[in-house]
Amino acid sequence: MKTKAELDINSYIHPQSNLTAQEKSGPMIITGGEGVHVFDDQGNKYLDSVAGLWCVTLGYNNQAIKDAAAKQMDQLPYFQTFANKSNNPTIELAAKLLEVAPVPMSKVIFQNSGSEAVDTAIKLVWYYQNARGKTQKKKIIGRHGSYHGTTIAAASLTGLPLMHAQFDLPIEGILHTDNPNYYRFGEEGETETEFADRCIENLEKQILQEGPDTIGAFFAEPVMGTGGVIVPPDTYFEKLQKVLKKYDILLIADEVICGFGRTGNYWGCETYGIKPDMITCAKGLSSAYLPISALLVSEDIYQAMKDGSDKVGIFGHGYTYSGHPTCAAVALETLNQYDALNTLDNIKNVAPLFQQGLRSFKNHSLVGDVRGVGLMASIELVKDKKSKEGFDPALMMGRKVEDAALSHGLILRALGNTLVFAPPFIISKVEVEKIIEIVGLALNETLNWYEVNA
Ligand SMILES: Cc1ncc(COP(=O)(O)O)c(C=O)c1O
Repeated sequence: MKTKAELDINSYIHPQSNLTAQEKSGPMIITGGEGVHVFDDQGNKYLDSVAGLWCVTLGYNNQAIKDAAAKQMDQLPYFQTFANKSNNPTIELAAKLLEVAPVPMSKVIFQNSGSEAVDTAIKLVWYYQNARGKTQKKKIIGRHGSYHGTTIAAASLTGLPLMHAQFDLPIEGILHTDNPNYYRFGEEGETETEFADRCIENLEKQILQEGPDTIGAFFAEPVMGTGGVIVPPDTYFEKLQKVLKKYDILLIADEVICGFGRTGNYWGCETYGIKPDMITCAKGLSSAYLPISALLVSEDIYQAMKDGSDKVGIFGHGYTYSGHPTCAAVALETLNQYDALNTLDNIKNVAPLFQQGLRSFKNHSLVGDVRGVGLMASIELVKDKKSKEGFDPALMMGRKVEDAALSHGLILRALGNTLVFAPPFIISKVEVEKIIEIVGLALNETLNWYEVNA
């Protein structure tokens, strides 16, 4: 009889993992969860400082969400929403999202994942420009370092080379512009504002070079998450939006990570004064209890969709599980829970301790930069603080800190040499202090290892 770990190695392909290393090390099998903690099959308890993948915003055992799922499963586990069919949770969820949207939005369309919401948005850019007769205005600009998912179009838009290599991506018509990471790309003596100016000037040059009539849309995460928690430099979005308006380019805010409180406001758009034409959200939409994503579209986009569907006879897009009633019921209850538990107040209450605590590592020998906002943050490890030279990836320094933290009961996420944190919104101050304490231990142990071995 094979163990579960052996079965895993034999049968399961792990996303975003080194497959050879996985065959050697086997999986970490999580069997339970409670609040901000999870338990593994060896009986160990861990504080999850990344909320799964930035998504379990309400922690691992929210009874109201589980009850909502069970109730909906009893009543109507599934029905389709193609061809004018509907169901109550989907109707209520769409209406609620429009009510809480950061800017007036017209309608909502549902998918199963963040990637699909981004893909839908890309298709709608093309649909919108066709409906307006701007059939050449189709190119889409994202940013180096951004993450928008792994379906073909979303992966193309993603600005991380590891998501493109060997997949023959990006597809044609998807362009990338500067990564607004001030720590990495700001020049000696350049202020944050000057750096923002330079990013936007470069973008404008790129638009002019390509031809403004060929650029349909710009996609941006309010704070770039998977790229290493890149907080936009001061004045960046204000200047960005002026240029996009000037050249009649749509702006899509990818709120898949930032939505529902992560940056300290309900939407990342509110934190940075972003007025988008479309908004993607997922993850915190259901606290990850079931897969669901939403795309909110402006009235202009919706009218174009109507025109297009009149021309063709149908709006030829959608998924079997678009408007899945059980996923919608779970999402609806998640949004209710944000209100009932005052999660935004809790975020505002614990975020200063979280941000200041992590920033206290700025002086640690291994640390180059600490950045973040609200309940998302990162620590970038460097070999040389002055030159900002990174560690040789072969040393896997990020992974070493991750493993050391794990041995003390803390899950964090190493993305190369950057450690990222995004705890559940319900985290307490005591739990934040625990994160800080263990990160300190893990950094010191990794430094000891480095001094002896490297
Ligand atoms: C900003 C952003 N957009 C899109 C996605 C893709 O979401 P999913 O993994 O649900 O497809 C992610 C996932 O982390 C994300 O962070």
